[in-house]
Amino acid sequence: MSDPSAPTRPPLGIVALGTYVPERVVPNSEFEARMDTTADWIESRTGIRERRYAGPDEYTSDLGVRAVRDLLSRDPDALKDVDAVICATVSPDALMPSTAALIALQVGLVGAAAFDLSTACSGFVYGLSVAQGLILSGSARRVLVVGAEALSKVVDPEDRNTAILFGDGAGAAVVGPVPAGYGFQDFVLGADGNGGGSLYLRCVAPRLPGGVEMTQAVGMNGREVFKFAVRVLGDSGTQVLAKSGLTGADVDWVVPHQANVRIIEAAMERFGLPMSKATVNVDRYGNTSSATVPLVLREAVDDGRIQDGQQLLLIAFGGGLSWVAGTMKWWGGAPSLQPRPAAEVGAWA
Ligand code: ACO
Repeated sequence: MSDPSAPTRPPLGIVALGTYVPERVVPNSEFEARMDTTADWIESRTGIRERRYAGPDEYTSDLGVRAVRDLLSRDPDALKDVDAVICATVSPDALMPSTAALIALQVGLVGAAAFDLSTACSGFVYGLSVAQGLILSGSARRVLVVGAEALSKVVDPEDRNTAILFGDGAGAAVVGPVPAGYGFQDFVLGADGNGGGSLYLRCVAPRLPGGVEMTQAVGMNGREVFKFAVRVLGDSGTQVLAKSGLTGADVDWVVPHQANVRIIEAAMERFGLPMSKATVNVDRYGNTSSATVPLVLREAVDDGRIQDGQQLLLIAFGGGLSWVAGTMKWWGGAPSLQPRPAAEVGAWA
């Protein structure tokens, strides 16, 4: 339960939202042709039917910029008062400059603070919490949080354990003041480096401190990550609900990281909620790491499922291993948070 004696915080939440996925659709059948797998195996074990791949000369910053432009196309003033840019990514264009600085440059935010955040699939929701902290500490008025990934460029295309899971995409949100009664309630964040060897991407060191030798492409122990994910989504979701004085019955929508539909099903069971209360699009985009939460959020806002005043529970897990859960009352008052005409849903300029 929130501490009633704690000083009240100014309400902060998402005030603008945009997304982008690259054009190229990669159906499961493409993998059948080049590795020992079947389209049915992939769909039945993961729920994934297809994913998107960035073009040969399209990188994470490009995807992030397109997501920001999507947001600007509906709300041209959305970047006003943005003093900081956070890019959550594990497939940055470079280690330096940060992908956040590259995005800031291209969307007219030179001079704003800019940094990348590396908690893999937890990154976007972690970023919302960091953005809230920057605003509450007085360091920023509004913060642009981008989750962007070109994972197709960091997986081994021949590795059936990983290649089938991941896709490319981006989402962008502006965090800022919202009317009283709306916005972020609580966050629970965590990480456990003991599980670092279960999900990694080599950079400078050839091995992890514990001795796990890393390959150049994403390496993963799928079974370990699966067990971890089911546990931490349930635990952190339950913890954040308790922190906000809520139960599963108060939640209108669970907005989970999209890694595997079976992981989402297990989490929903833990909350005692039906799958109809979870937003799911892993079937069409696969696991886009830090981009999954904004992508699925935009979809549910666009088609009118998520509505003004509804109670959301955001949950994600990822490399680190890391986890995050957040509660928020959705504010639908800004131009890019309105439902889109059906013809425009899923379309990107
Ligand atoms: N096609 C056919 N068979 C396969 C494939 C494939 N693409 N991949 C693995 N198999 C085989 C395995 O080799 C294994 O064979 P064996 O029994 O002879 O050893 C068998 O299928 C079953 O393997 P499991 O790992 O038990 O399969 P499971 O049902 O757990 O599904 C999967 C594997 C989909 C990877 C699942 O474990 C999973 O989703 N794990 C979580 C992964 C995840 O979420 N990663 C992202 C984390 S977020 C981030 O930060 C990036």
